[in-house]
Amino acid sequence: MKWGIIATWRMAYEGIMGAAEDLSQGLSAKDALENTIKAVEDYPFYKSVGYGGLPNEQGIVELDAAYMDGDNFNIGAVAGIQDVKNPISVARKLSNNRFNSFLVGSGATAYAQKNNFERINMLTERAKKIWENRLEEMKNSNLSPYDGHDTVGAVCLDKNKSMVAGTSSSGLFMKKQGRVGDSPLSGSGFYVDSEIGGATATGLGEDLMKGCLSYEIVRLMGEGLSPQAAADKAVYEFHDKLAKRKGKAGAFSLVCMNNKGEWGVATNVEFSFVVATDKESPKIYLANKGEGHTTIIEEASQEWLDAYEERIKRPIQ
Ligand code: GLY
Repeated sequence: MKWGIIATWRMAYEGIMGAAEDLSQGLSAKDALENTIKAVEDYPFYKSVGYGGLPNEQGIVELDAAYMDGDNFNIGAVAGIQDVKNPISVARKLSNNRFNSFLVGSGATAYAQKNNFERINMLTERAKKIWENRLEEMKNSNLSPYDGHDTVGAVCLDKNKSMVAGTSSSGLFMKKQGRVGDSPLSGSGFYVDSEIGGATATGLGEDLMKGCLSYEIVRLMGEGLSPQAAADKAVYEFHDKLAKRKGKAGAFSLVCMNNKGEWGVATNVEFSFVVATDKESPKIYLANKGEGHTTIIEEASQEWLDAYEERIKRPIQ
C-alpha cells in the first residue's frame, strides 16, 4: 500500500525520518504530519518556525500555522499566536470545529491556553540577538529589514489513502505586529484533497497570496497533470505574470504530492526539500529553476549538508 510525505526545506528531514517509519507501520497521515511539523517547531536552530523563530519588529515572536484534512476539507489555522510550543497542534484541534476554526492574535493564544496546549517563551536568546543585530544594522543602512520566511509545509498520504497538509511559520522576520503571511491561508500556503493530492508553499507570503498557488497546483493535478507538471505550470506561469505586471516576483517554492505518492516541486530560488515514500527512503533534495518552465532537482551533496549544518549553528556575535 502506498504512503508518502513531502515537506519544504532541509529542516523537515528529522521529522520525515520519523514519519516514514511510522507511515510504513500504518500510522495515520494526520499524526505523521503533526509529528513532522512538531519536530521542526521544537528545534531551536530553525529561525523561521516555532521555538527559535525570529520575532517581529517589536521583538515578539508571532506564529502562524494551519492544518487541513483532505478527506473532509476540515481546516484549522492560527495566526499571530504567541508563546505556544506547537502551533500546528492548535491548528489541528481547531480543524475539528464547525465554527471558529481560524483564530488570530490574543484569541488564538487564549484558546491554546484554555485547551491546555503547552506554553513556553518562544523567543530564544539566539533569536533575540539576531533581532538586536538587525535593529543596529537598520540604524546604519537603508536595507530592507525583511528576511527569513522559510515556512515548514508538508503534505502526507497514508496507507488508507487519506491525505493531510500543514504549515508552521514565524513569518517574515521584522514583520509589522499583526502581519500574517500565506502559511495559515487555505489555497495559498496549503491545500489538500485526498481524491487528488496536496500542495504547500514557502516564500514571500505577500506574493504567494496573490496566486493561490497551492490550490492551483491541486486543481491542475485534478485535471490530470502529474505533480511535477502541475507545479511547473502553476509556479512559473505565475512568476512570469507577477514579473510582467509588477516588475518583480518575490521568492517562492512549492511542493506537492498526488494520491498515488508521486511528487513534484517548483521554485524561483534555490530550495531544499525532503521526501519519503513507500518506494524511496527519506532524502534531501535541492531544486532550482531550469530552462523555460522546468525544475532541476538533485540530491543534496554532503558538502551542501555540512555547510547547512555549520550555517544554522554558527555563533551569533
Ligand atoms: N511564507 C511565510 C510568510 O510569508 O509568512
